[in-house]
Amino acid sequence: MKDYGEYIDIIQKRLSPRRFQHCLQAAQVAAEMAGIFGADPDKAYLTGLLHDYAKGISGGELLRLADEHSLIQDEVDRWVPDLLHAPVGAYLLRHELGITDAEILKAVTCHTMGALDMNALDKIIFLADMVEPGRDYPGQERLKCLAFRDLDKAMLFGLESTIRYCLDQGRILHPQTIAVRNHFLKRVSD
Ligand SMILES: [Fe+2]
Ligand SMILES: [Fe+2]
Repeated sequence: MKDYGEYIDIIQKRLSPRRFQHCLQAAQVAAEMAGIFGADPDKAYLTGLLHDYAKGISGGELLRLADEHSLIQDEVDRWVPDLLHAPVGAYLLRHELGITDAEILKAVTCHTMGALDMNALDKIIFLADMVEPGRDYPGQERLKCLAFRDLDKAMLFGLESTIRYCLDQGRILHPQTIAVRNHFLKRVSD
């Protein structure tokens, strides 16, 4: 595997300065969270750095790549192709950068909608993406507090914020976001 420096260069070249900063900060937050929750901070940093590898790709191209490589899970994916930057990103990390670490690839794959079988790294990346200091939305401070205290409660809060935002903005709500929110609601209340 390359050292961080090479990956930082690769991400910087692929993304806008704003998105590059987002990746650096998500990586930093992910490494801090990993230290708290017993995950590998180096792996968390690298995954945070790489999680938006496909973010600069247009919706049409994401859809084409997803179709070509059988990455469409639900027909709703076609209505909101931007969400495909997660699975397409994991695919490209595997095939363009030669990253084979299954944990990294899975965490990248589920960083937009979550999944029903998320491990600590998956949750850390999902949450670091939402709480890194460059983001600004109502509830972010609360989410940040939770993210450093209880991963499952933070996931529930983060997913509910996303759902609320989609409703307020009249955006499509992906059924997986709802399924994953219900899953964490049950986990938190059990
Ligand atoms: Fe993303
Ligand atoms: Fe991101």
